[in-house]
Amino acid sequence: MRLVFIGAPGAGKGTQAKRLAAEKGYPIVATGDLLRAAIAEQTPLGQQARAYIQRGELVPDPLVNQLVAERIATLESFILDGYPRNLTQAQMLETILPQPLSAVVYFAISEDALIARLGGRRICPQCGAVFHITANPSTAGDRCDHCGATLITREDDQPDTIRKRFSVYREQTAPLVDYYRQRGLLRTVNADAPPDTVYQQLLSVLCEST
Ligand code: AP5
Repeated sequence: MRLVFIGAPGAGKGTQAKRLAAEKGYPIVATGDLLRAAIAEQTPLGQQARAYIQRGELVPDPLVNQLVAERIATLESFILDGYPRNLTQAQMLETILPQPLSAVVYFAISEDALIARLGGRRICPQCGAVFHITANPSTAGDRCDHCGATLITREDDQPDTIRKRFSVYREQTAPLVDYYRQRGLLRTVNADAPPDTVYQQLLSVLCEST
């Protein structure tokens, strides 16, 4: 399966991508995670990307396109989480794909629900696990269930930055829903439901795509 996950910030793309990857073995290419890793390692890419992410803006297309092209060149299956994020990236993806996409899964949810999700998100800086203080807490309190590292709040999960990310999503990423619908690739799940229900919907829409 060659999958793209799109949806607003906090819609649950990363949560579902990790679960699907664990069950089916598809590699995840998550541009946000790759960029955060580059920032933590202080690579040249990370140094360039940091200010954009802190402001809630998209990192410039050439940087992100190259990152994705390098990762998917040799993959037969993958989950692209957070890419493409605008029309230029979608067009670029078509030129670098080794084979056509199987489906684009759209995680549909209202903005009101997302504010609570992002405000309560905690992530593991070591293994990348994602938690929520009420909806999906770590059983180890403020430490990661999987590796024991101290959980943190993402730098861009601050109220002003969240607002900016929503506006970037509405202007630049939301038009991709119609773009992929017109190409017959769009599969929609109701991302407002509990995580297990979203996952069952995801498996069901993917069945239709095989
Ligand atoms: P990125 O990391 O991709 O962030 P995002 O798209 O804003 O998405 P999020 O990671 O915030 O949310 P998610 O949908 O994965 O939700 P999650 O599963 O964590 O990008 C960050 C930045 O990097 C961008 O702003 C940009 O600067 C840059 N960037 C990335 N890609 C780029 C690109 N292609 N081009 C240019 N720049 C790029 O869930 C959220 C919370 O809700 C968690 O706490 C979770 O536990 C909880 N939760 C999940 N599902 C449920 C549920 N069903 N019910 C209740 N709670 C739930």
